[in-house]
Amino acid sequence: MFSQVIVYGAGAVGSAYGAILSKHLPVTLVTRNQAHIQAVQKNGLKLTGELSETFHPTAAYLISEIMSNTLVILSTKCFDVAQACHELKDLVQADTVVLCIQNGLGSIDEARKILPCSVLQGISRIAVTFPEPGRVNVSSFSALQIEPSSLSSEIAELFSNTIANVFVEENFKQEIWLKLTNASIMNPLTTILRVRYSELIHPYFDEMASKIFKECQQVAGCENIAIPDSHLTFLLERLRKISHKTSMLQDFENKRKTEIDYLNGAVVRLGKKHKISTPVNEFVVSMVKFLEEKNGCT
Ligand SMILES: NC(=O)c1ccc[n+]([C@@H]2O[C@H](COP(=O)([O-])OP(=O)(O)OC[C@H]3O[C@@H](n4cnc5c(N)ncnc54)[C@H](OP(=O)(O)O)[C@@H]3O)[C@@H](O)[C@H]2O)c1
Repeated sequence: MFSQVIVYGAGAVGSAYGAILSKHLPVTLVTRNQAHIQAVQKNGLKLTGELSETFHPTAAYLISEIMSNTLVILSTKCFDVAQACHELKDLVQADTVVLCIQNGLGSIDEARKILPCSVLQGISRIAVTFPEPGRVNVSSFSALQIEPSSLSSEIAELFSNTIANVFVEENFKQEIWLKLTNASIMNPLTTILRVRYSELIHPYFDEMASKIFKECQQVAGCENIAIPDSHLTFLLERLRKISHKTSMLQDFENKRKTEIDYLNGAVVRLGKKHKISTPVNEFVVSMVKFLEEKNGCT
């Protein structure tokens, strides 16, 4: 049984999960954000939105050891996973379990190559922002799906008395692709067009979304994952009812690097592997890279 949790890369998502777990077992949030550390140490970690409560995890800039029976929730962005894993690799124990909750494809393979312990993947459906140090705003905890393994139900069990709906997802590979497809449509298009989900009601958008979708569907098929045609209609109908700003658009507005290489970029890379042409995803990657460069992020 896990006796403590370390959240490595405690930004929006990591802080939210760390907060709710801290009521039940010792939690340490590890972050490079000194203002966040000081705010949590002084006033606790405030959650607003779906849950309004203050929690009291420990917060630290560095850790020098990881005790036996520790769950590490690795919650950096995809492009920071490799460096974080290099920092962790001499600290993890044989029984440490690292749960990676990044969106997209590719970063989990980097983590597995570097870490000499169990590494599991989770799909987080949380919607959370980080408005100020010491506070995260969770619009919806929604689901956290964990890939099947002999350790997964123990992780889900940790969350059983919390607001989060955490469970072992038997259809994990397809769920990864469904989420990747959603994010590959909504994140770059809302960023390029600078709009919220609910503003995306236009035939031009439908055409673009459909082209990105078809390429994702074809590449997924080569990976033996079926994405039904009905998924696009379902996605567009559901999301247009929400006035949400995607994380990529938020990153762009805050002049931060985006995860495009692990979303549409991953579709392009896998397309090349399977000799499938993905011109629309390639175009979208170029557009977002252009915006990143203009923003001073490389
Ligand atoms: N936000 C959402 O609603 C949501 C929902 C589902 C999934 N996700 C996924 O969850 C992942 C995390 O997203 P997020 O929104 O929580 O990002 P975030 O707010 O940027 O948090 C990531 C944190 O990791 C820190 N970090 C990076 N490398 C580190 C290192 N080596 N040591 C310590 N701290 C480190 C970052 O510090 P710096 O600030 O110094 O870079 C940042 O504070 C992403 O893959 C995202 O796609 C997000």
